[in-house]
Amino acid sequence: MRCPKCLLCLSALLTLLGLKVYIEWASQPRLSKAYPGPQGSPPGPTPASLEPTLPANLSARLGLTGLLPLASWNQQQWRLETLPSADSTEAGGCQAWGAAAAAEIPDFASYPEDLRHFLLSAACRSFPRWLPAGSGGQVASCSASDVPYLLLAVKSEPGRFAERQAVRETWGRPAPGIRLLFLLGSPVGQGGPDLGPLVAWESHRYSDLLLWDFFDVPFNQTLKDLLLMDWVGRHCPDVAFVLHAQDDAFVRIPALLEHLRGLPPAWARGLYLGEVFTQAKPLRKPGGPFYVPGSFFEGDYPAYASGGGYVIAGRLAPWLLQAAARVAPFPFNDVYTGLCVRALGLVPRAHPDFHTAWPADRTAEPCAVRDLLLVRPLSPQDSIRLWKHLQDPQLQC
Ligand SMILES: *[C@@H]1O[C@H](CO)[C@@H](O)[C@H](O)[C@H]1NC(C)=O
Ligand SMILES: *[C@@H]1O[C@H](CO)[C@@H](O)[C@H](O)[C@H]1NC(C)=O
Repeated sequence: MRCPKCLLCLSALLTLLGLKVYIEWASQPRLSKAYPGPQGSPPGPTPASLEPTLPANLSARLGLTGLLPLASWNQQQWRLETLPSADSTEAGGCQAWGAAAAAEIPDFASYPEDLRHFLLSAACRSFPRWLPAGSGGQVASCSASDVPYLLLAVKSEPGRFAERQAVRETWGRPAPGIRLLFLLGSPVGQGGPDLGPLVAWESHRYSDLLLWDFFDVPFNQTLKDLLLMDWVGRHCPDVAFVLHAQDDAFVRIPALLEHLRGLPPAWARGLYLGEVFTQAKPLRKPGGPFYVPGSFFEGDYPAYASGGGYVIAGRLAPWLLQAAARVAPFPFNDVYTGLCVRALGLVPRAHPDFHTAWPADRTAEPCAVRDLLLVRPLSPQDSIRLWKHLQDPQLQC
């Protein structure tokens, strides 16, 4: 070749090409490494853990054996028989429980404010529905003739109107066997604008809002899980599966249905499926996200499915409620669900196509996500764009 510059150019190009191939190759295993599944799952069910059970002593199940740490949660769980029940006659039973728990923590005053609020009220779990004035807006029970196969239980917050509408217009659309509900706290809020009239209008218009009268703050998310389980037990006990998702998730419902229908029946009966974290530990940086003081909790988290989106068998609803009455409150709702599932002797199932923390620097392109079951977070605009692309029969990847 008589063109040294061309040669230089060519080798530079080849180097770049090699680099691109390498980056793509290297990013693949890293992605899957970030979402490890528990040993031995998927494919086969573990025989010992297919049916829920709730032993009288939960200590061994929850790993509280040997030398017990002095941390408050561990001590509470060790002693706990049942949390004060909602119908307990002594008024303020749950408040008294919280105050006593707080009084035992020497450095309680140094805890972040939201954690202090959580601990003081954590045993108070019974809240009335927040019902808009006037008739209508009632959420219908599942009818015996039309039991949904999959209930989409989407956690939202009163002010997130656009996120809810995007779900209604895309993956949460009415479809056979599917029921959509949004879970919210009080639209009156605490020190914010009164969204009551707007949420009341929305509730009348769509009849898909389950609202309860508690402050809709992150550490109250467990209330949504428990109050939904209670609702399911009373109003929709035969639903096969419940998908818990955040309102910024995008779910490929047909693919999820196909996966659920293909599960071995025995496995499906105790299902707790999602992006599973098996080695998570509490974060100890004060002021950082998900900070947990050492005087509150010691040890590792149980294996749990990320709260961004997971599926649970509908028949576990009453079991989870029973377990929750005997598992000491924990501020993160997904870790708490993991604890309750562990108390029942069940294990989470990891699925590699649940992506609950899609990297902010990677746009959720239709081709990148078309084989996933669930991806988040997406803006309402991105969800609608993605939905349109995925409907397009001409979509080429
Ligand atoms: C519960 O089980 C633990 C560990 O298996 C044991 O040390 C403890 O004494 C038991 N508690 C009761 C009340 O039986
Ligand atoms: C959760 O809501 C209840 C009732 O509105 C409130 O008393 C409690 O402080 C809230 N929890 C947190 C962590 O703010």
